[in-house]
Amino acid sequence: MAFPKTLVFSGLLALSQLLQVVDGISLSVSKDGGNASSPILYGFMFEDINHSGDGGIHAQLLRNNGFQGDNPGLTAYGPVGNVYLTVDTDNPLSTAITSSLKVSVPSGTTGKVGFLNEGYWGIPVTGDTYSNYFWMKGDYKGTVTLQLVGVSSGTVYASKDLEVASTADNWTYYETSYGTTAAPDGNNVWQLLFDASEVAGSALYFDLVQLFPPTFHDRPNGLRPTIANALVDVQGSFLRFPGGNNLEGYSPADRWIWNNTIGPLESRPGRQGAWTYPNTDALGLLEYLLWCEDMNLVPVLGVFDGLDLSGGVITGPELEPYIQQALDEIEYVRGSIDTPNGALRAKDGHPEPFKLTHVEIGNEDDLWGGCSSYPERFTAFYNAIHPAYPDINIIASTRNDSCLPSPRLDGMWMDQHHYLSPDEFVASFDEFDHVDRNHPIFVGEYAVTSTNNGADMSFPNIIGSVAEAVYMIGLERNSDVVLMAAYAPLLQHFNSTQWIPDLIGYDSDPGSLTLSTSYYVQKIFSNNRGDTILPVKSDSDFGPVYWVASVRDTTHFIKLANYGSSSQTVDITIDGTTTGTVTILSGAENESNYPYEANVVPVESTVSASKGTFTLKLPAWSVAVLKAN
Ligand code: AHR
Repeated sequence: MAFPKTLVFSGLLALSQLLQVVDGISLSVSKDGGNASSPILYGFMFEDINHSGDGGIHAQLLRNNGFQGDNPGLTAYGPVGNVYLTVDTDNPLSTAITSSLKVSVPSGTTGKVGFLNEGYWGIPVTGDTYSNYFWMKGDYKGTVTLQLVGVSSGTVYASKDLEVASTADNWTYYETSYGTTAAPDGNNVWQLLFDASEVAGSALYFDLVQLFPPTFHDRPNGLRPTIANALVDVQGSFLRFPGGNNLEGYSPADRWIWNNTIGPLESRPGRQGAWTYPNTDALGLLEYLLWCEDMNLVPVLGVFDGLDLSGGVITGPELEPYIQQALDEIEYVRGSIDTPNGALRAKDGHPEPFKLTHVEIGNEDDLWGGCSSYPERFTAFYNAIHPAYPDINIIASTRNDSCLPSPRLDGMWMDQHHYLSPDEFVASFDEFDHVDRNHPIFVGEYAVTSTNNGADMSFPNIIGSVAEAVYMIGLERNSDVVLMAAYAPLLQHFNSTQWIPDLIGYDSDPGSLTLSTSYYVQKIFSNNRGDTILPVKSDSDFGPVYWVASVRDTTHFIKLANYGSSSQTVDITIDGTTTGTVTILSGAENESNYPYEANVVPVESTVSASKGTFTLKLPAWSVAVLKAN
C-alpha cells in the first residue's frame, strides 16, 4: 500500500477534538495522499441462472418457443378447444430449430380452437402495446386470433385478429402488434386461435412464437425495462457474461457457443443450460453487447477454456480449436468490418466495432479438476490473445497460485469468488491490504450465502448486506489493485430458482420486482464514487464500524458500515466541507425485502458540518454514505 490505512490518533489531538469523541468514533479525512480508485470498480455479473435471461431480463414472454434444450416436450403449452398438441420433428423450421408445435384438429370440429402458452409461470400484461411474432405452416387461409387472457378471471386483456395465408409447403412468418389492457396480476396466458372448420381432419404447425412488451431502449429482441432500469439505477461500470457455470456446460458440446447465439433467432439452436433448464440464446452475444452499449458498461467476456462442469479438461493440441473460437469471438466483437467475423457483426446490424478490453479465460478453474492444467491452458489462450490484442486485459479465473502460471504472465488479472457467511466477509475486510499490487484483481462473484450458523438464506438480509458492505469497504480501500467487483448471482425468477440468495427477484406479476437489501448496498456504493481514496485518521480500530473515504473534484464520499447491534455515533472531519447528504440503509438484523416487500430502503437526508465536523448516528446493522462538499 502506498500509505497506512488507519492512523490511530495520538496525543496530537486537540482537547476540543478529544471531547467530541468521548461517546463515539472520530474520523478525520486527510486532504491528500492515498491511492487511485478504479473507475470501474462496481458492476454486474450475469449468466442465465434462475431464469435471469429467458423469463428474466430478456423481454420475450413466451416459454419453450423453439423447443430447445434436452427435453422440451410441450412445456408451457396447452390446447384450446378440441385439438391435440404434439411436438413435431418432421417439419423443421431451420437446421437450428428442428421441432415445432403440431396442432391437430379432429374431423368435424368447428369454432375457434388453437393453443395457449403460459409463459414463464404467467405473463405480465401491462397495458402497453405488445409485439407478436410467429411462424406457421399448413394450409390455412383466414383469421388467426391472438389473445392475452386471465387464467382465473377469463378476462381478455388483448385480442387481435390477423389475416394469414399459410401453406403446407413452406413456413410463413407473421408479425403484428396490439394494445393491451393492464391485468391485475401475472396469472395470464397467451393464446393463438384459428377456425377449426378450415383445418378439421388435418393439422397446423407453429414455431418460434414470440411476445414482447416494449423493450429497454426500444431494442428489437431487447431487455425487460423494469429489470433493466433497476440495473441502470445502480450505475454499474461493467458486465461480466455469459458465466459463470453457464459458460462451461456439462460437456464441451454443452458449453456456451458464441456463434450459436447470433443472427436471426431461427438460426440459434439454443442449448441445455448449466442450470437445469434450456436456454433459447435469444439473449445472445450481440444482445449482451447492446446491453453494455445501452448501459455504458465495459464488457467482460468469458471464453470457454477447455474445462467443463463434469470435470472434463481439454489440453494440448485439442485445445487449439477452442482458442481459435475465442479469437473469432473477439474478432466478432471488436474486429473491423473487413475481417470475416467483423463482417458478420455488420451483417447482424452493428457495423461499428464494440470496445472490448477485458476477456476472462474460463470460470473457476481452481475447481472441477481444472487446477493442474490451468497454467498450460491459460498460457495458451494468453499467448494467442495478447499479441493480437495487447490492450485486452486477460483475466485468469482464479487467484490460487497453484493453478496459475509461475511466474504470473505480464499484465494478467485474476478473478476471485467468495460465497461466505456474514462473519467470514467481515473477517475478510483486509484481504487485499497486503497483496502484490502488480496484478489487478477482479472479485468476479461474491455474496453472503449463509447465516453465521451455516443455515441457507432465501434472500439477502440486513446482517448479510452490512457484511458485504464491510467487505466492499475493504475492496474500495484497495481499489488501486482490486479493479472490479460484482455481487452474484444478479437475478432470480421466484418461480424457478437454482441459486439463493440473489440481488433482485421477480415473477410474472408486473409489480413483483423486489430489490434486496444487498441491491441497495450495491446501488449506494456504486452511486457514490470518488476517483482517489483518501487516508483517514481515527481514534478507533475497525469494528464494528468500518469506513473508507474518497474524493472526486471537491466532492468527498465517506462510506460506513456498522456491523453491530448497537448504534454508533461517528464524527467525521473533512476540511473545507460544510454540507452534504447522508444515505442510510438499516434494519433489524435478519430483516429482508423478500418476498415482494421492499420495506428496507435507503433513506437520504441533508446534513451540515459543525466547525468542519459532520456527526452521524449510525443505527445498529447499517450502511451509510456521506457525500459532502
Ligand atoms: O453465481 C453462481 C455460480 O457460482 C457461478 O455460476 C459460478 O461461477 C459460481 O460457482
